[in-house]
Amino acid sequence: MSSSFTKVAVIGSGTMGSGITIVFASAGINVNLVDVEKRFLEEGMKKVRKFLDVSVKKEKITKEEQDSILERIKPELDLEIATEEIQLVVEAIIEEEESKKELFKKLDLLCTGDVIFASNTSAISITSLSSVTRRSDKFIGMHFFNPPTIMKLVEVVIGTNTSKSTVEKIMELCKRLGKEPVPSNEAPGFIVNRILWQFLNESYKLLESGVAEKENIDKAVKLGLNHPMGPLELSDYIGLDVMLHIGDYLADQFGDTYKPALILQKLVKEGKLGKKTGTGFYNYS
Ligand code: NAI
Repeated sequence: MSSSFTKVAVIGSGTMGSGITIVFASAGINVNLVDVEKRFLEEGMKKVRKFLDVSVKKEKITKEEQDSILERIKPELDLEIATEEIQLVVEAIIEEEESKKELFKKLDLLCTGDVIFASNTSAISITSLSSVTRRSDKFIGMHFFNPPTIMKLVEVVIGTNTSKSTVEKIMELCKRLGKEPVPSNEAPGFIVNRILWQFLNESYKLLESGVAEKENIDKAVKLGLNHPMGPLELSDYIGLDVMLHIGDYLADQFGDTYKPALILQKLVKEGKLGKKTGTGFYNYS
């Protein structure tokens, strides 16, 4: 079963891909980490190293453990080399259906028939993504939460054609990774993001209609709902582009009540994507 997972390819070395890579490598699984350009891969590896350095400093792992985790991670630009002798692909590229489909089409030609494809998509239909491959029975959602190294939950998203055996293997694998898998049949946004989007989008609407200042919206939610982060800080942390993609997708599926607030659209247009670009709802420079 999941012990048969010895080597995986993680595609996309951004916020999520770099974290997911650490999770797999820490569980003893070899990872080929892929991105489209050398500078993005280097950025991803920098995040991996930084996290492991802090873990050593905090005595959560030893220096030897850090070395063996790093030995298991191979940054790779060539998709063909990255998919050699793997048992699983975890896709964590930008949240755009067409880009993901294009990638999965390529992967389907490169990978042997037994390789399972998992997408870390936040909201997009697993069945639709799987339709461009010849392995929709081996196609599943593995939705990690940010940061994947810390957050326990993985939503295991079951597409219309996902086989029972694929679900069982991935549920078991998540446990081996030290995660709590929660299965969900596919529906736009699955469980958490469907609820989260409406909550965050209301906070954007409160801000743009001048009901309260951003700091006060965050303060009220933290104190009133006992949340560790306010909705605007959380959005900056996730990435405003990621939130906009989720909102656009849900609005497309469910109608106008899910439509992203104008202020979010404006910030993304201006390249203010949150913490990762230095500005979002807040300024981080
Ligand atoms: P990101 O923007 O930080 O990273 C995406 C990476 O993918 C970039 O390095 C980019 O160069 C690379 N990429 C784009 N196209 C590629 C391709 N064809 N082949 C290889 N690499 C490619 O994005 P982030 O935040 O890591 O999100 C990735 C996925 O994870 C998205 O589907 C997102 O919805 C999902 N997700 C994001 C969460 C978050 O809090 N940011 C939480 C859970 C899921």
